Amino acid sequence: MKKIHIYILVLLVAVACNKPVETNNYCVLPLPQNVELNNKTFALSKANKLIVDAPEEDKRILEEYITASLSEFANNGKGTIRLVVKDSVAGISSHEGYSMTIAPKEITVEATSGAGLFYGIQTILQMARENSTVACGKITDEPAFEYRGLMLDVSRHFFDKEFIKKQIDAIAHFKMNRLHLHLTDAAGWRIEIKKYPRLTNFAAWRKPGLWKDWWFGDRLYVNEGTEGAYGGYYTQDDIREIVKYAQERYITIIPEIEMPAHSEEVLTAYPELSCTHEPYKQADFCIGNEKTYEFLENVLSEVIELFPSEYIHIGGDEAGKASWPHCPLCQKRMKEENLKDVNELQSYLIQRIEKFVNSKGRQIIGWDEILDGGLAPNATVMSWRGTEGGLAAVNSGHKAIMTPGGYCYLDSYQDAPHTQPMAFGPYMPLDKVYSYNPIEGIEAEKAKLIHGIQGNLWVEYIPTEEMVEYMIYPRILAIAEIGWSNPAERNFAEFRERAINAVEWLRGKGYNAFDLKNEFGQRKEASQESDNLAKGKSIVYAENAPYSNSYTAGGDNALIDGVHGGWTYTDKKWQGFISGGIDVTIDLGEEIEITSVHADFMQMCIPDVWMPAEVTIALSSDNCNFNTVAEIKHNVVRDEELSFKNYGWESDKAIKARYVRYTAKSGKQGGWLFTDEIEIK
Ligand code: ACM
Repeated sequence: MKKIHIYILVLLVAVACNKPVETNNYCVLPLPQNVELNNKTFALSKANKLIVDAPEEDKRILEEYITASLSEFANNGKGTIRLVVKDSVAGISSHEGYSMTIAPKEITVEATSGAGLFYGIQTILQMARENSTVACGKITDEPAFEYRGLMLDVSRHFFDKEFIKKQIDAIAHFKMNRLHLHLTDAAGWRIEIKKYPRLTNFAAWRKPGLWKDWWFGDRLYVNEGTEGAYGGYYTQDDIREIVKYAQERYITIIPEIEMPAHSEEVLTAYPELSCTHEPYKQADFCIGNEKTYEFLENVLSEVIELFPSEYIHIGGDEAGKASWPHCPLCQKRMKEENLKDVNELQSYLIQRIEKFVNSKGRQIIGWDEILDGGLAPNATVMSWRGTEGGLAAVNSGHKAIMTPGGYCYLDSYQDAPHTQPMAFGPYMPLDKVYSYNPIEGIEAEKAKLIHGIQGNLWVEYIPTEEMVEYMIYPRILAIAEIGWSNPAERNFAEFRERAINAVEWLRGKGYNAFDLKNEFGQRKEASQESDNLAKGKSIVYAENAPYSNSYTAGGDNALIDGVHGGWTYTDKKWQGFISGGIDVTIDLGEEIEITSVHADFMQMCIPDVWMPAEVTIALSSDNCNFNTVAEIKHNVVRDEELSFKNYGWESDKAIKARYVRYTAKSGKQGGWLFTDEIEIK
């Protein structure tokens, strides 16, 4: 990775990138690696002369792309843009890197591939966004990571090829180079496979359009053409069109075909591939049955024909494995292959599929569960359950792509939950995503095996195109910058300015990007220490209402430490209770006058976090006789995203007490209660 060298002038300009600046504009995202600019400018216009010296296919792609892009620049600059592919370029080691000299009459971009030239062009287009001119000077730039991806789930809700192409345009502009399509899952199979027509004339369709209505309803599939059927799939011609469109923007489409789990739709269309041979009963393929391999290999053969990608993603996540111990064929397989448990059985399938995929000249990627039971010899691991899977992969000499849920899952809230549509995961704003460093704590030799980073958008609760874009942008820009730029030069405040500028551009282009400029931001209580009278005093938890070991918030003093949590229960400041309630007694050490007792709770339906149904607050002088001062009832409603609510008591007239008992009970739905502080004043 190269050291960034940016002159102070440029940095100042960068910070102010959304305003016209005296010298020139410099608002590139991801931040280039080496930049030296001066006060002169090159005028970008549709009248620029274009000279492309590159292999034929790259020349065609680049000429078409640049001509279309320049048509938006109305001024009358007559300078030349010269693009050259060479065997080597000084200062560049990646085939995606570029070196660019900008003079008033000519821009020359050199690279060792068409991709490098394409990325140089993105830099030029971004620099010219503000006033159609590009600052003169020199930029030498290349990516930190080879793999810079976005994953889109098109199973839970289906998005057509035009929408996919629109997203390809956007992510290419930010120098991303992979689009991973999650093509198959219970909610619908989304790619035409000639040999298995029921996958798309049946298993791609359902009645309720909204995933949650279907998943929590009948979970039935219907035949294509049924009145009111929701769904869809990409024909093989659609796939060829998407792949070609992506190639022309130097993006590789990675198809994901799920196995052995998340396969309810396949096993209903073709029930003989499950352990029990019953439709609607199984999510996991039967690993003992040879027909499973025949099916998977036939499907993968068609997939490999359609997608030139080196990588084929074979899923591998979240297998329930429940039917395998009872299935005679799976048991026979375990015996014959000397497999000691169901993890090894899963690994048998993955390894066998890997051999098949390798025999076609391709490699597999799998979610990090493919580590369980023994990793396939050449597999690349996509680390999603935290970073441990990725670390285990590189420690055993495998490549890893980092997509840890806490930083890279774009289906989580990007702003204060009460300001946002219901989301799957907890608060994960832009700065959280940006704070991730895929190689932090990994020794240099092993860090080379970290292939890159990916943002994932699962769409269980995201049924529309507008919502997909809202969740992707601008957080994918943080992923793009982590994937490309030098981590040593990362500065969130400065990045945020560039991201705001990019959001404006995206919105102008018709993308429904989140309005970053008007972000609500972190919960204000989280940055203020509370003047809780209970701070430093003692607290006793009733034996039948302990806090969970998974969410201790630091232990016994968490509710009286003066520290409030932010917008998420995962920030280690919220204490979690799963046993049905909270029952704590705070000892203030001596009788004092108090006028209020309050605690905050949150409700986030999808992760099963709820408001209490009942809260009681009682005061005592002797820890024996308690005087109930508040009894609060709340009707907990499923699907009601209340986010945050305060349950408390207050009085104009102070009451003397030494002990404060706070109890909160869950409603009938059970689940989690979270509170961060019991505040006594
Ligand atoms: C996953 O989120 N199940 C990979």
